[in-house]
Amino acid sequence: MRILLSAFSALLLLTSCQVPSSVSKEATSPLATGELKVALPPLFAGLEAPTWGAAPPKEETPPAPGWTGPVDDTYTRVKTSKKVVAITFDDGPHPENTPRLLDMLKERKIKATFYVVGDMVKYGPDLLKRMVDEGHEIGNHTVSHGTLSRMSNDALLKELRAAHDQIIEACGVAPISMRPPGGAIKKDQKELMLRELGYPTILWSVDPEDWKRPGPAVVTSRLVNGASPGGILLVHDLHKPTVDAMPSTFDQLLAMGYEFVTISELIKLDEAPAERAAEEARKKAEAAAAGVAAGGTAPPAAPLP
Ligand code: NI
Repeated sequence: MRILLSAFSALLLLTSCQVPSSVSKEATSPLATGELKVALPPLFAGLEAPTWGAAPPKEETPPAPGWTGPVDDTYTRVKTSKKVVAITFDDGPHPENTPRLLDMLKERKIKATFYVVGDMVKYGPDLLKRMVDEGHEIGNHTVSHGTLSRMSNDALLKELRAAHDQIIEACGVAPISMRPPGGAIKKDQKELMLRELGYPTILWSVDPEDWKRPGPAVVTSRLVNGASPGGILLVHDLHKPTVDAMPSTFDQLLAMGYEFVTISELIKLDEAPAERAAEEARKKAEAAAAGVAAGGTAPPAAPLP
């Protein structure tokens, strides 16, 4: 078993850190583009195929407790006066790095969000259970880590529904948000997902480019320097040096007074929708008052909230 795990890990490392020259520097992850499907380890070859579009989302499976749904279709961060950040781990679960990361999180009572890849779930269904048991959130990062912006609507929905079902099967909790591989997604696709699956698209405010393996100290410094209230931090638990960077990252952010929240908690803290509503009400009241001043018969101004 040990040898198998080592071989698996070595293959993941080999495949996930190779960036073909055809890939632009802007790509967020080596898994980010369609050409890079090879980034999934060769061990996947010959294994049972993902259940493409096998079933619609199982509506009877409850999402995370207290979740009432998003207001916006996309979040790169939220507006909040609270000193909170959401840290998100993509592309796992990884059989060695993810349990080590979960230990680090548990030790510090930190909650995180994991954007898991469906094709990886079968290698760590127990890890998904552990995430849920320990208060973390799981998001949908597709089955194959393909590029959604190049897919038809049907193919996109099949990808996401299949991963949705894999996640439910592994841990019994439905994901409530998704992250497009490489951040590549079109506006109408985001609207479709929100409508069909209830998923907001979760991007990020801080990308330390940990997949380029700049070294744990650099990853930590980019995350710590980039953090701000309401921010979303993007990293990958697929990579060992990223997990090596986490103790120092967590400890520095905690020392700065940051609280770590999950993505659904972060969205609930978003003050922007209430501010937008207040601004709209204020404009309506102003317009009504201007109408009256001009001798018009404007309706009475709406009270300010
Ligand atoms: Ni990814």
